Amino acid sequence: MAKPLIVGNWKMHKTVGEAVDFARRLRDALSANLDRSVAVAPPFTAIYPVAQVLKGSGIGVCAQNMHEKAAGAYTGEVSAPLLADAGCEYVIIGHSERRTYFGEGDDVVNRKIKAARGSGLKAICCIGETLQEREAGQTFSVIERQAKKGLRGLNAAEIGGVAIAYEPVWAIGTGKTATPDEARDVHLFIRDIVKGEYGEGITADLQVIYGGSVNPANIADLMARPEIGGVLVGGASLDIESFAKIVRF
Ligand code: PGA
Repeated sequence: MAKPLIVGNWKMHKTVGEAVDFARRLRDALSANLDRSVAVAPPFTAIYPVAQVLKGSGIGVCAQNMHEKAAGAYTGEVSAPLLADAGCEYVIIGHSERRTYFGEGDDVVNRKIKAARGSGLKAICCIGETLQEREAGQTFSVIERQAKKGLRGLNAAEIGGVAIAYEPVWAIGTGKTATPDEARDVHLFIRDIVKGEYGEGITADLQVIYGGSVNPANIADLMARPEIGGVLVGGASLDIESFAKIVRF
C-alpha cells in the first residue's frame, strides 16, 4: 500500500513572499521521514521559489494545471516539461474548476495525463459529480465516464503514476463533505473500474484520494476508511496551522 497522499491546492492565492514563507514553515514543522506523501500546489508564479525551499525536504510541489503540448505557440500556457524543470513532482488535472470555468472535458484530461506522465510528472486526476447529477442518481455513471475516458489508453507505466481524486463538486468550497461512507463507496467503485481496465496488479498501488471541504475536524474520520488513500485540500490548506494538522491527522 502506498503512503497516504495529502496535497494542498492553493488555487489563485498567495504571493511569492507568502508562498515561500508557508513552504519554510511547513518544511520546519514536518519531519523528513514522515510516513505520508505531502505536496503543495502554489500558483504558477510561486512554483519555482517554493520548490527551491522544499528541495530535499520530502515535500513535493504540485502544479494546478498544465497544457497538453510540450512546447509551442500557446500564449499564456505552461507545459509539463516546463513544470518539471521548475521543480514540480505532481500536477492536478481536470479539477472541477477547470472543467466548469475553462471547458475542459474528459478527452483533454486524458491527453494532459499522458503528457504529464511523458514528462515524468505524477498526475492527480480529479473526477466528481455535481449536485444536480447526484440528485438525479447519476453519481456512479458520471464517475465511470470520467474515470474511463480520463484514463483511456494509458500504459502500465503511465497509470502507475496517476492518483485519482474523487471530489464531489457540491462539496468543493461549500463546507459540505461527503460522509466518509459515501466517499468510501465511490472510492471502491473507482478501484473496481481501474481494476476492470488495467487488472488487479495496478490497483494495489493505486491512490484514490478524497477532496471537498476537508479540514482538521473531519480528516481523521475520512482517513479511518482504508479505501481513502489521502486528501486534496483547498481552503484549509491556505493556513499553515490548519494544513499541518491535516497532514498529521
Ligand atoms: P476545498 O477545495 O477543500 O476548499 O473544498 C478542494 C479542491 O478544490 O480541491
